[in-house]
Amino acid sequence: MVQYVIRGGKPLYGTIHISGAKNAAVAILPAALLVDGVCRIENIPEVSDVRLMLNMMEELGAVIRRVNPTTVLIDSRPVRPGAVAPHDLVRKMRASYYIIGAYLSRFGRAQVSMPGGCDFGSRPIDQHIKGFEALGAAVSVRSGFIHTKAAAGKLRGAPIYLDFASVGATINIMLAATLAEGLTVIENAAREPHIVDLANFLNSMGADIKGAGTDIIKIRGKKSLQGGMYTIIPDQIEAGTYMTAVTAAGGEVMLQNVIPKHLECITAKLIDMGADVTELDDAVIVRRLGLLRKANVKALPYPGFPTDMQPQIVACLCCAQGTSMITEGVWDSRFRYVGELKRMGANIEVAGRLAVVQGVDHLTGAPVQSCDLRAGAALIVAALSAPGQTEIDGVHHIERGYEDIVKKLQGVGADIQRAELPDTEAEVLANLS
Ligand code: EPZ
Repeated sequence: MVQYVIRGGKPLYGTIHISGAKNAAVAILPAALLVDGVCRIENIPEVSDVRLMLNMMEELGAVIRRVNPTTVLIDSRPVRPGAVAPHDLVRKMRASYYIIGAYLSRFGRAQVSMPGGCDFGSRPIDQHIKGFEALGAAVSVRSGFIHTKAAAGKLRGAPIYLDFASVGATINIMLAATLAEGLTVIENAAREPHIVDLANFLNSMGADIKGAGTDIIKIRGKKSLQGGMYTIIPDQIEAGTYMTAVTAAGGEVMLQNVIPKHLECITAKLIDMGADVTELDDAVIVRRLGLLRKANVKALPYPGFPTDMQPQIVACLCCAQGTSMITEGVWDSRFRYVGELKRMGANIEVAGRLAVVQGVDHLTGAPVQSCDLRAGAALIVAALSAPGQTEIDGVHHIERGYEDIVKKLQGVGADIQRAELPDTEAEVLANLS
C-alpha cells in the first residue's frame, strides 16, 4: 500500500511548473480517433488517467509512440470499427465514454461498457444519450454495455438543447458531430477551458467548430480530418490546488505555465480570503502572510467557481477566521471527504449540498483516507497547514490527476514523502479475492 506522509505547519517557498490539463487530455486523446492521419500531441500530463486512455486506444488498434514523457504521436488509421474497449479499463474512468462519441462519428456505431469514475452520487449519462439520439443514433444499454448505432449508417447534424451544461455531454456530442453530415448546434453547452481546448484541437485537424467557450456551439460536419500537431492547455485545477496549498500553509510560491484568465474565479476568492495573487503572462505568484478571512463559495459550471476546487477551498477555510458557507452547485454528494477533515480537527457541518465551516486556530495531523481525486488533494492542502504528521491512504486517487505532486511540493519545501508500506493482511486477502 502507498501512503503520503506529511509533516505540516510550515510555509512553502519556491516555484512549481504546472502540467497539461488532465480533463483536456482525456478528451483530446480519444478525439485523435477521428483523425485519418498522425497527430502529434504535446504537454500531456503524466498521470494514470492519461495512461489508461492511451492503453484503451491501443486496445482499439491505434498506434501510439511516446516521443518524450509529455508528447505522443497517435496514428488512428488502424483503429478497428467493431473493436470494444476492455471493461476492466473502461470501468476505472468516466472519460472512457468519449470513445462512444468518437466511434459513432467515425464508424456510425460504438459499444462501450458503462463508465466508472469518482463517486459523487448519481452520474447519469442521459444528456449524452439525448445528443446521440438527436444525431440519429439508436442507443440501448444492456448487460452493462452502451450499444449505439447510426440508423442511416452515418450520423446527421441536428439542434440539441442540454438540460444541464454538462461538460461530458458537450464533449461527447462535439465528437459525434465532427464527422456527421450537416450542421449540429449545441445549446446550453458547457464553457469550461477544456471544451475550448478540444474544439481548438479538432479545428487544427480540419474540423469546423465555432462558439466553443460560449453556451452555443456550432459544428459543421466534415468527411474526414487530417493529422497535425497540438499542445494541450495548462491544468487550471492543478494550479488552483497549489494556490490553495500556499494559502493554507502560508509562504510565497510562483506557479509557472498557467493561463491566468482560467484562474480568475479562484484568484478572486483567495484574495477575498486574504491571500495576495500577482498575475504575470504565463504565471501567478501566490503569497499568504497574515490570517485568513472567511468566505462564501458557490461551486458552479465555468466561469463560476470550479466544483473541482470545492474540496480544496474548504480545506483552506478550515482555519479562516469566522464562519464560511460553501454550496455545491454541480454534484449531488461531493462532501464525503469532510469526515476526514474533521478527524484533523476541522469544525464543519454538512446538509445536502451545503457545508458550514467554523474556522479553528489550526488543524492537527492525523491518519486520513482519500475517497477521490480532489478530496485527496484537499487532504494534502489540510495536512500542509497542520502541525504534526498526517498519513494519507488511497493516494492512487490523487495520482489519477496530479503529475509528480510529491516532488513538486518537496520543491517548495514541503515535508512530504511517498511511502510504500507492506500490504496489511486484509489487503493481501482482498487482493487474493
Ligand atoms: C467533468 O465530469 C469532469 N471530469 C469532472 O472532474 C468535473 O467535476 C465535471 O466535469 C464538472 O465540471 C472530466 O472532465 C473527466 P458533467 P462530467 O457531465 O463530464 C449531471 C475531476 O475531478 N449530468 O458536467 O461527468 C451530473 O450528474 C473530475 O477532474 C446529468 O444529469 O460532469 C452532474 O450533476 C471529477 N446527465 C452534473 O450534470 C448527464 O448526462 C455535471 O456533470 C451528464 C451529467
